[in-house]
Amino acid sequence: MTNNKSYGTGGIGFIDGEYMPFSELRIPVTDMGFQLADMCYDAVHVWKGRFFRLDDHLARFQTGLQKRRYDTLGYDIEAIADVCNGCVARLGAEDAFVMLIATRGTPMGANKDLRSCQNRLIAWALPLHTIVSDEEMENGCDIVIADTMRIPPEAVDPTVKNFGRMDFVGALFEAYDRKADYAVLLDAEGCVTEGRGWNIFALRQGALLSPDDGVLEGITRKTVLELSADLNVDGRLARITADELRGADEVFLTSTAGGIMPVKSIDKKIVGDGAPGPVTQRLTELYWKLHGDPELTTPVNYQLAEGQAAEA
Ligand SMILES: Cc1ncc(COP(=O)(O)O)c(C=O)c1O
Repeated sequence: MTNNKSYGTGGIGFIDGEYMPFSELRIPVTDMGFQLADMCYDAVHVWKGRFFRLDDHLARFQTGLQKRRYDTLGYDIEAIADVCNGCVARLGAEDAFVMLIATRGTPMGANKDLRSCQNRLIAWALPLHTIVSDEEMENGCDIVIADTMRIPPEAVDPTVKNFGRMDFVGALFEAYDRKADYAVLLDAEGCVTEGRGWNIFALRQGALLSPDDGVLEGITRKTVLELSADLNVDGRLARITADELRGADEVFLTSTAGGIMPVKSIDKKIVGDGAPGPVTQRLTELYWKLHGDPELTTPVNYQLAEGQAAEA
């Protein structure tokens, strides 16, 4: 897995019932997914030919579809799983990153009645990549605690994975201005939430804490909480203030696009001794080891691509 700086090349896409090269995927500007960020999505990865926690990702996506009331999508969960598989099989990669997106679609009339839209399913598979660089993966990332507030959960439900993300954009430009590449956002009470594409963990006084509210319920976060029990570490969801985060012994980010990513500094202050800590390292080993567990993984059916190519 790598961050190869060439996002968007060499993938397989799926839209409006058809597979195509990723670079050819387009949505009309009339799609409310573009105009209103009226969409939801999920992302799952494939490691050594097996989807990791596909059922969890599909269940979260399905909940998003229901909460957003995408009733005209026209794909049930088995059909959506087939599309994931179809993209990876056509990509032919052992390690892949798969996106599933539902958009509201285009309304019929100029009053843009959302009930008149035909919802759209989009998917793609790319070679597996991380959201941080290889160097950051090894030595840790520099993050800032942004002044930009996370969109409150009362306004937009953060448990529905979505691209309504101007709060992350504002926070990231704060980070760039402060010579860092990543930003974590606080909520209205000054408690830590998450960043673009990741949840955050802080190890404090032996307890491994991750924000309990106002965030996406990450599948990697769930996995880390389960694994912490194996390490006899007290892993749990909690309120975390900005100062508590700054004073943590170890901090890491979690995402399907990277797994467990160590944090080296927060607001320029070094975390711990500046290197990925022992709990972070041990969890990372266990996390990747789990990818061979048949209970949590689903083999890709690579025949699906061959079969469909032969029929075409
Ligand atoms: C806002 C946000 N939080 C957290 C995560 C991590 O979720 P997961 O571990 O399921 O990839 C993501 C993933 O993209 C995200 O977009």
